[in-house]
Amino acid sequence: MKKVRKAVIPVAGLGTRFLPATKAIPKEMLTIVDRPTIQYIVEEVVASGIEEVILITSAGKSAIENHFDYNYELDTILRQKNKHELREELARTSGLIDVVSVRQKEPLGLGHAIWMARKVIGDEPFLVLLGDDLVRSRIPCCRQMIDLYEKVNESIVAIQRVPMDQTHQYGIVEGEKTDFERTVKVKRMVEKPAPGTSNSDMAIIGRYLLMPEIFEALGKTTPGHGGEIQLTDALQSLADQRGMYAYEFKGKRYDAGDKLGYLKAIIDIALDHPTLGEPLRDHLKSVCDGKNCLQ
Ligand code: G1P
Repeated sequence: MKKVRKAVIPVAGLGTRFLPATKAIPKEMLTIVDRPTIQYIVEEVVASGIEEVILITSAGKSAIENHFDYNYELDTILRQKNKHELREELARTSGLIDVVSVRQKEPLGLGHAIWMARKVIGDEPFLVLLGDDLVRSRIPCCRQMIDLYEKVNESIVAIQRVPMDQTHQYGIVEGEKTDFERTVKVKRMVEKPAPGTSNSDMAIIGRYLLMPEIFEALGKTTPGHGGEIQLTDALQSLADQRGMYAYEFKGKRYDAGDKLGYLKAIIDIALDHPTLGEPLRDHLKSVCDGKNCLQ
């Protein structure tokens, strides 16, 4: 069985849901407490034992690459000012993992973005993480998936149950229970089904562990939902060809690409912060007590 060593993170999207905040900075660089959203994603990858990240980028996304790079000028200034703790923190960020970038030259969809990684991935299984989906869990979500992969040796999509009136916002999986804990054998997958067209509440979230055969499937995938090349459509053909599992991960997922989801992530992460947690809790209590009116 081949080891999972690489993770693809598509970051080419425009971030229109957060305009005007994302007019001049990538949405992946929006801050959650003290680090950009993309850093949480990369930290999950690192904590899961992955060795290399492949960013699928577009014009205007260089801030993401710079974030994970060494900044000589900044380091020199911080050294002169004896700001050693900050230097260490920055060194930790730039030393997290090797990052490779591939440009997606046209916005043809998520499936096309993943297809761009084919030469860098080669013939091995790999992870895909979508930057909008933040997952907080005791065991990193990707690690949970790798642990399952080591038992099933097939592709896996992470899922969570969603209310039926929200299924049209997700890729939806239909399948049958297996003997593996929280694991379903995939039968059918539909990208954003019209209300009433699927009875399943199992929604794909932005974590995939894929066999390299996905690239062949992606190469043959024609535009689907929204006129885009959909990853979900290629997943269906991979499932038909060699099988696929859906895994109900343990943890809490935030849709950080949505304003409310983003705020919830900030609050929950800040509440667990060693120095911010307590004063924030006090502040939230006073807000709930109605002491938040502007004078
Ligand atoms: C993408 C996928 C969809 C998945 C979702 C999870 O959609 O295409 O299958 O359910 O991510 O966040 P998007 O939200 O990018 O439109």
